[in-house]
Amino acid sequence: MGRASTKPSPANQMMADVDTSFRPEVDINLGVGYVNEDTIPRHLWSQSLDKVLANPQSYPLALNYGGPNGTPYLIESIRRFYHQQHLCETNLDVLAGKQILIGASGATSLLDAIASTIKTGIVLTADPIYYIFADLLERLGFDVIAVPEDQHGIRTEHLQKTIESLGDKKKRIRFMYIVTVNNPTCSILSNQRRQDLVQIASNLSNQLGRKVPLVLDTAYEMLIHDSQVQSPQSSFPNDRLGITYEIGTLSKILAPALRIGYMIGSASPLTNAVIQRVSDVGFSAPVLNQAMASYLLDHHIDEQLQSVHDAYRKKALRVRKALEEGLGDALEECRGGSGGFYYYLTFKKVQTHTQSAFFQYTNRSTGDPLIDGPKHAKYPKVAYVPGEYCVHNHGHLVQRGRRQFRLSYAFENTHRIEQAINILNDACQYAS
Ligand SMILES: Cc1ncc(COP(=O)(O)O)c(C=O)c1O
Repeated sequence: MGRASTKPSPANQMMADVDTSFRPEVDINLGVGYVNEDTIPRHLWSQSLDKVLANPQSYPLALNYGGPNGTPYLIESIRRFYHQQHLCETNLDVLAGKQILIGASGATSLLDAIASTIKTGIVLTADPIYYIFADLLERLGFDVIAVPEDQHGIRTEHLQKTIESLGDKKKRIRFMYIVTVNNPTCSILSNQRRQDLVQIASNLSNQLGRKVPLVLDTAYEMLIHDSQVQSPQSSFPNDRLGITYEIGTLSKILAPALRIGYMIGSASPLTNAVIQRVSDVGFSAPVLNQAMASYLLDHHIDEQLQSVHDAYRKKALRVRKALEEGLGDALEECRGGSGGFYYYLTFKKVQTHTQSAFFQYTNRSTGDPLIDGPKHAKYPKVAYVPGEYCVHNHGHLVQRGRRQFRLSYAFENTHRIEQAINILNDACQYAS
């Protein structure tokens, strides 16, 4: 783990580049997963800070250390929020039997807690992969096996066959990790597939004589902004063994800076180990943030969710139109647009990987000043996530990944995204 971590992962490198080398108002960032700044309710933040500090009876010890389970009032706010929003059609009875705990620093820290407390072995996931977590798992020594998805999420019949094909190695399967609105593709896991996953994990648990957790990462599930999509149904009622754990976050609907992520699941040794890990790395999430999150969930979440959905819906539609007009002829497939804030694009022919002409054009590193611009005033760069980072490097999609890329419509405003799509179109012509 130490040796493997001495080199930055692609995600780490991209986030560092944004911080250091991106020129604001010049370069266009369709790469990193930052949310849209306009969806962050700044005025509600200052209001919540005032309320929390003025009400120590409701929000005790807000500026002190906290306990590793998370503050009871935030846990209750999340429970109420799930019930009121009919999130995952989860009712209070189902939730009452589950434990909710708060991560030390967002959903990321809960994923880290799971990866660092479960013995290394095989993790099953969908391809394209959530490359940030897959990278961590591999550095820790896990073998990630990625099973292709389609527009309804991981292909569960393929997953079943993959498990069977492992033969005796099946014993090394430790858990399944599925992102319900996938990052990078924003494919939404269908309710049928969700139930299939519970069934597959349950059968496997019975066969192996131990529980194989099904970890559902719901980071973008509250960001399904297309009203035509069937609302996700909870896996909990079908999960008789208590093996499903949902990991959610308030990053996408309130603000990443809160760093509030939570896990919902049965009380179990795994839950206890995750709580211990929260304690080990930071005692708790900052109590002040937990208190502000609780206040915001209790008082303003309806209007906030509505405005976030409206903002991303509008952008998704405009960007889709721009993609069809600008890149339509070159594209083989376009995924996303109903939830989350990414489009995942596959070109018919053009390669997108970091050695490709397309990449060099968008990165202004062709070496031709007519394309790159003058040395000290280069033309605008467009950053995207190349598909080569998004598909598993031992999976079935390696070749296809070299023609794919993830484009975020969250961070930049729509006008600049349209400008970027024109540059991508020019890059296509150059590469062809
Ligand atoms: C699939 C997925 N899970 C988890 C996270 C991280 O969430 P948090 O900000 O709560 O750490 C992200 C962030 O983009 C994500 O895409």
